[in-house]
Amino acid sequence: MNQHPTADSASETDGVPREVWGSRLGFLLAAVGSAVGLGNMWRFSYATAEHGGAAFVLFYIFLTFLVGVPVMIAEFGLGRSTRLSPIGALRRAGGSAWVPLGYLFVAAGFLILSYYAVIAGWVTRYAFDAVMSPFPSDAGAYFGEVTTGWSPILYHLLFMTLTILIVAGGVKKGIERVSTVMMPVLALILIGLAVWATTLTGAGEGYSFYLTPSFEELFSLETVAAATSQAFFSLSLGMGAMLTFASYLKRDTDLPKESTIVALSDFGVAFIAGMVVFPVVFALGLQDAVGESTVGALFISLPGAFQAMGPTGRAVGLLFFGALFIGAITSGIALLEVVVSSVIDEWKIDRRKASIAMGIVIALLGILPASDLNILSAMDAVASEIFLPLGGLFLALLVGWGPPSKRLEIFIEGASPAIRPLMSGWLWTLRIAVPPLLVIVLTQTVPAGLASIRAIGG
Ligand code: PHE
Repeated sequence: MNQHPTADSASETDGVPREVWGSRLGFLLAAVGSAVGLGNMWRFSYATAEHGGAAFVLFYIFLTFLVGVPVMIAEFGLGRSTRLSPIGALRRAGGSAWVPLGYLFVAAGFLILSYYAVIAGWVTRYAFDAVMSPFPSDAGAYFGEVTTGWSPILYHLLFMTLTILIVAGGVKKGIERVSTVMMPVLALILIGLAVWATTLTGAGEGYSFYLTPSFEELFSLETVAAATSQAFFSLSLGMGAMLTFASYLKRDTDLPKESTIVALSDFGVAFIAGMVVFPVVFALGLQDAVGESTVGALFISLPGAFQAMGPTGRAVGLLFFGALFIGAITSGIALLEVVVSSVIDEWKIDRRKASIAMGIVIALLGILPASDLNILSAMDAVASEIFLPLGGLFLALLVGWGPPSKRLEIFIEGASPAIRPLMSGWLWTLRIAVPPLLVIVLTQTVPAGLASIRAIGG
């Protein structure tokens, strides 16, 4: 039904109708919805705990603006100017030699969504359970129950079903509508929880771990790599998600401005989530659990804390996991959209069929990480720490040095006059700052990714 948009909602590229966003705010909230997700609350908290707290946070902000915003402008510009999903967009922007990069993007979407939906499934179960009964007193055993046997598979399938339904609904009637309703709710919940967290006795230690930098750990290459891949994951960069969303844009959007707003909102949510997680966890003396690099740390220490707080904890837990669910679903749809829009463009299959078929394949692939946490960790290490920086590296090379660098107007069009003079700084950042940094990141993450694959058996 939505594959034949009415004249006012469609525009043409080579005679093919393409949907467009209903409004500027709708696009912005969908892009923020894609960025804000498990990355901000789950991954950000444990990466921060693992890499020395506040120093990591500072470094992460720096990278968000040095690397994240420039790469996002590049993706937005390619998407908007070609009005195509990643494979076609790269073909048009760089020639057929760049098509494999498009396939890498689609592969990243497949892989990331397949395990992302598993974690989102745990979140869904935590939220459901909090409605039904208080958090169990043995948080470790509870986590074990949520993540083993049939439960993780069923909740993963439930999450995938919702994701498929929204994406099948279309850009405007599915993705935009859901993001527009849900993102403000998520913001309100988190701000409310952060205010509440200030009232906890013992919260001070949590704030000081989170907000007082200790610089020893900051300058290790490992921290650089962790902060960079966290920025890519959290901003949904390096796999064409932002490119795809921008392909539904009209010409007049101010891309540098929108990128900055998305990055600020994404960082804002991660930061505020930290203002909830760290005080709660430290107030209850559970800090050691968060820093263990296991994927589940946050899912053990937080419910443990909520349980210890009695009825208030149960309400807070419900809100927290509810917010996490909102973040997860608005990111899940972006991940699926990359795959679906590519299938629609490349093979001219209609949106409903493409969403269902691709969604089912991803859901089936997700049964592996749903059954084995080592597989889940390995998929995260490979997809988010290798594929995304690799995707970002080639994207920066294409836009910085390839044909698009000669058509800067496709990135600048619609930008305010005040920003225009800064755009050559942007281009040079893509040319000379981003690629070496990403190469350094890959020297760290490739061996780590391979090691995590080897760890699967043992
Ligand atoms: N940015 C999302 C998050 O932080 C994850 C994501 C990655 C979504 C890549 C889309 C593309 O949870």
